[in-house]
Amino acid sequence: MAILEVLHFPNTQLRIKAKPVQQVDNTIRKIVDEMFETLYKAPGIGLAATQANIHQQIIVIDISEEQNQPLCFINPKILSCDGEQTTEEGCLSVPGIFEKIKRAEHVTVQALNQNGESFTLKTDGLLAVCIQHEMDHLTGKLFIDYLSSLKRQRIRKKLLKEKRTNKK
Ligand code: NI
Repeated sequence: MAILEVLHFPNTQLRIKAKPVQQVDNTIRKIVDEMFETLYKAPGIGLAATQANIHQQIIVIDISEEQNQPLCFINPKILSCDGEQTTEEGCLSVPGIFEKIKRAEHVTVQALNQNGESFTLKTDGLLAVCIQHEMDHLTGKLFIDYLSSLKRQRIRKKLLKEKRTNKK
């Protein structure tokens, strides 16, 4: 298995809309396995395939500290959401940046698991935030898109500067 390379903002590949998975086969399962490995190594709590430059609707999440509650969502759809919560979010594609973002408090999501079986999950709190954050990635959206354009420009400059410094 391989650790996948995670793209960083402002890489334009992060803006590509992911396509639905046609069939959950061994190729997809291998991508899921590699996404989990990449997530745990980072470490992070969620990763969308888009971030690894794979433009299929696949998300992996594990919000447990022990990294023992893996959740995989293929072709996820939000069936309903309500309420409001504001949480400080970060993203493996926007390293070192943490900002408060407003999201729905409760979500009900329907998806396929890595065996291709359909399931529905009703959740709230951090997991609900994480699902919404990762689903945004699949449509080419980043959490910093919720900030003002001025703030986003500052983050862009900061990350580009860090990238140049790291290359030296
Ligand atoms: Ni993210």
